[in-house]
Amino acid sequence: MAEPAQEHPLKSFDHHSRKHSDYFEVYDKHFRAIRERKLNILEIGVQYGGSVEMWAKYFPYAHITGVDIDPMCKIHAGARVSIKIGDQSDRAFLSQFKNYDIIIDDGGHTMRQQIVTFEEMYDHVKDDGVYLCEDLHTSYWDEYGGGYKREGTFIEYSKNFIDSLNAWNSRDEQVLPVSKFTRATKSLHFYDSILVIEKGKRNKPTYYMTGTPTLTGV
Ligand SMILES: C[S@@+](CC[C@H](N)C(=O)[O-])C[C@H]1O[C@@H](n2cnc3c(N)ncnc32)[C@H](O)[C@@H]1O
Repeated sequence: MAEPAQEHPLKSFDHHSRKHSDYFEVYDKHFRAIRERKLNILEIGVQYGGSVEMWAKYFPYAHITGVDIDPMCKIHAGARVSIKIGDQSDRAFLSQFKNYDIIIDDGGHTMRQQIVTFEEMYDHVKDDGVYLCEDLHTSYWDEYGGGYKREGTFIEYSKNFIDSLNAWNSRDEQVLPVSKFTRATKSLHFYDSILVIEKGKRNKPTYYMTGTPTLTGV
């Protein structure tokens, strides 16, 4: 007899949440290996509480802090979930949040909110942690300050991360210097609408030689 279909652990929650269908696969890919750890997670954007509930189920030992500008979101606090009320584009408000394994930005999705939050919070992701920014499609929507290749969108801003990640290959340190980001970032994963940044301490790469060079065409 066929086994009863198991609900995906990232899709079985009671409170309402609306997520792009690809997100669940992305979450699982980046979070599966650390699921059972005692993590400290920050999510910006609580709304109806669906995602904080989902994270609490998916990460059985984690503490989740949800941030939202709407005071009503306080009702979603629980045993492993705290809720803080404030504006993600207020740098002074953000300064209270430190030392996270995972930060997820699913807040208001304007360019300013996403960029200020990244600028303030990236350093507060632990050395081997993950920073995830959702709903990057707003970078193409003018009502959020977006537009294709428009200066100041989060997509245009984050394209520069690719250069910073590669800065040890730069031949002009004035133009492309090695930065704190270069030294602290292991990889960038751009998906449709999501950017996942995996942190990891890095030093200047060295080249490892093996084997004996052979003459070809002789
Ligand atoms: C997309 S919803 C979050 C959905 C939730 N993460 C989920 O998946 O169930 C966006 C939330 O961001 C909040 N928000 C909008 N602007 C904000 C701001 N400036 N600072 C903090 N939260 C904000 C809204 O109140 C709303 O609840």
